Amino acid sequence: MDLDCTRQLRNKFGGCTAVGILCIGSFTLLSYAFVLASHRLNSTVYINPAKISNGGNVVYDITNGHLIKNRTKITQPPPGTQMGQQQIDKILSVLPRNGNLLVWGLGNDSPFWHDSTDGKVAFIEESGTPWFAKITSKYPFLNALEVKYSTHLVQSLERYSHYRSLWHELNVSDQLPASVKDTAWDVIIVDAPAGFKPGNAGRYQSIFTSAFLAEVGTHIFVDDYERKVEYEMSNQILGTPVEVTRRPMTFINSNVQAHFIVTEECKRNILNV
Ligand SMILES: *[C@@H]1O[C@H](CO)[C@@H](O)[C@H](O)[C@H]1NC(C)=O
Ligand SMILES: *[C@@H]1O[C@H](CO)[C@@H](O)[C@H](O)[C@H]1NC(C)=O
Repeated sequence: MDLDCTRQLRNKFGGCTAVGILCIGSFTLLSYAFVLASHRLNSTVYINPAKISNGGNVVYDITNGHLIKNRTKITQPPPGTQMGQQQIDKILSVLPRNGNLLVWGLGNDSPFWHDSTDGKVAFIEESGTPWFAKITSKYPFLNALEVKYSTHLVQSLERYSHYRSLWHELNVSDQLPASVKDTAWDVIIVDAPAGFKPGNAGRYQSIFTSAFLAEVGTHIFVDDYERKVEYEMSNQILGTPVEVTRRPMTFINSNVQAHFIVTEECKRNILNV
């Protein structure tokens, strides 16, 4: 605002009022700018990564339009990966070479999944966790997205296993960018959020939203299917698994992965909630 204008304001309203209006005005503008800026940061940092594989060992990773790295493709899951080799092989066996892969979960095995197809790969992790910051700064080329969960491992079981009419509360797709909602996913892996202790969210929302994002024929793999919540909710939402793969007992634990293929009936169930 130029001086003339300020003077006019002062003449019209008296000094104090004009200064007050200016202050409130600037404050409102600043808050707006701040909200816009933080929204922009949240929604653009990891939205557009892509990768170009030369068909051989080298992957060119692109983030926000910039070529950030050429890496040697990772062809083996890193040591310490929780999922067993047999379970990984099952997933790879149905993932086309250019297939699109959506993974609920983020970790040191994510670069392996990122490289497992020439198609699109996205990861979804619980928002605001130190874990998210750690993994995305370690592997900035991953397309990693954050979601806030509202369920409770223990308290939510009765609510959602008994009342289908409440399933719409499990839909977190409004937190996801169009790039996730508009992609035809060939394979979805549900390996998050955490569901091993009472304070965890459990996989209610990731299972439901997977069914919503899937198309008829999409392969959905639910990890830790031996647990009550994962077992109950995926059977109710996704139907009967076509195959169940048990990782042999290790010194940590054994674990079970269920393989579902989304049917028309599953999609009808989801759309009618
Ligand atoms: C990686 O990229 C650089 C240039 O960005 C290029 O000189 C180099 O040959 C590339 N390495 C491989 C293995 O393709
Ligand atoms: C899920 O949310 C999306 C909005 O992101 C909406 O378009 C869709 O109808 C919802 N679906 C279900 C089944 O709740």
